[in-house]
Amino acid sequence: MKNVLFIVGSMRERSFNRQLAKVAEEMLKGKCNVKYLDYNDLPYMNQDLEMPVQASVARVRKEVAEADALWIFTPEYNFSYPGVLKNLLDWLSRPMDMSNFQNPSAALGKKVAVSGCGGKNMTQNCRAKLTELLDFMKMELMHEPQTGIALGMEAWTKGEFALTDEQRAALQKQADVFCAFIEK
Ligand SMILES: Cc1cc2nc3c(=O)[nH]c(=O)nc-3n(C[C@H](O)[C@H](O)[C@H](O)COP(=O)(O)O)c2cc1C
Repeated sequence: MKNVLFIVGSMRERSFNRQLAKVAEEMLKGKCNVKYLDYNDLPYMNQDLEMPVQASVARVRKEVAEADALWIFTPEYNFSYPGVLKNLLDWLSRPMDMSNFQNPSAALGKKVAVSGCGGKNMTQNCRAKLTELLDFMKMELMHEPQTGIALGMEAWTKGEFALTDEQRAALQKQADVFCAFIEK
């Protein structure tokens, strides 16, 4: 079975995007192995910290390099992706062996899918910008389908949400296409 690494673009304990990832994890059960990337110990990108490579940086790069594919679940912050996610991607964009800048990054050519839940525009602006960034990093992005979810009032009051039938069908479709995509 392929190894898939889930990346949640929110550090919030009861993150709706983490809840969405859990539903996707259920959908992938028996089809691939899912792990979550823990990256909250990464320092802010600072070129002074690149050499020697810090343990947290080495660990996330190793986990990404070893995964067959990534699936990012992220909120939208101010029309874009959250800073913590950009910080992670910046660390992943640098060569694993810094002795030569031609050396590959952990992200190079890595298969990746994108989903997100947030306000009424369904993280559309975040996903558009993230798409641009992942393409720039020469990752192998599954451009379509992406699942964007507008959280209802109930989610904000209860702190948790249930997918509508339509949203669940969209996520299921993405999971199915993702499974075929990572087998290629
Ligand atoms: C700094 C900040 C900026 C935000 N900007 C947007 C935005 O531009 N569009 C949007 O839909 N939601 C925006 N939100 C709301 C988040 O999308 C919402 O809180 C979401 O539930 C966060 O995801 P999480 O539950 O996975 O942490 C913003 C939240 C924060 C903290």
